[in-house]
Amino acid sequence: MSSESIEMAKNRGYKLLEESEAALAAGQIDEAGWYQRGMAVITPAYLAGDNPRSQSGHSGDEAHWRQARSLVAEAMDRDGAFLDVGCASGHLMECVQLWAGERGVRIEPYGLDIAPELAALARSRLPQWAERIWVGNAIAWVPPRRFDFVRTGLEYVPRRRQPNLVRRLLDEMVAPGGRLIIGSGSEEKDQTRHGPSQEEEVASWGFGIAGSLRRPHHHDARLEYRVLWIEV
Ligand SMILES: C[S@@+](CC[C@H](N)C(=O)[O-])C[C@H]1O[C@@H](n2cnc3c(N)ncnc32)[C@H](O)[C@@H]1O
Repeated sequence: MSSESIEMAKNRGYKLLEESEAALAAGQIDEAGWYQRGMAVITPAYLAGDNPRSQSGHSGDEAHWRQARSLVAEAMDRDGAFLDVGCASGHLMECVQLWAGERGVRIEPYGLDIAPELAALARSRLPQWAERIWVGNAIAWVPPRRFDFVRTGLEYVPRRRQPNLVRRLLDEMVAPGGRLIIGSGSEEKDQTRHGPSQEEEVASWGFGIAGSLRRPHHHDARLEYRVLWIEV
């Protein structure tokens, strides 16, 4: 059993997020400052990574990465275009195409990142897709097209904006008949968690959850990897 605090085990950016939320609530920073604080930490850390996983914020090996992230590909039930909101090094874009392809599902990946340096890294790693990797903040970015599958993490915007992010992605980015996929993230198991699951929280904002998947965590018995999706 890990001795790490459950919040840190779920999300290594937990402390930064909590501090940014507190500073925002206290009026010490505005929302632009909230994003700047995140980028100031994430961008140099990812750029210092020596492999495409660490350049996407993942500290594990390939097997760990696949166990944690391939739920995203499993949420894709048919061929289509996929936008990874927060694409970092672009590694999830290429892996989702590969993993879905193993089931005969053909995915065309696209990427968006708020950090210009990370979008540039993704473009240099994946020159064949350079024209479809964009820089922008998901809460405001106007896409040039719609996508059958859009993936995001809710922690990419201040807590009070999370329902707006979901609404915006559904209204502006997901194609008719498509899916907004949230995750995959680490969550506490139902038996031990205090407070609502992410699925319960998103449902409480008035969104219908169309499906979800979960699997055991790579090494922490308290946690599971989960994704959920909403259909348009
Ligand atoms: C943990 S990485 C995710 C990498 C990969 N997509 C995955 O799921 O494994 C999160 C990325 O989201 C980006 N990001 C954070 N907030 C964002 C926002 N509001 N709009 C667009 N990108 C954002 C960060 O710069 C970072 O590269």
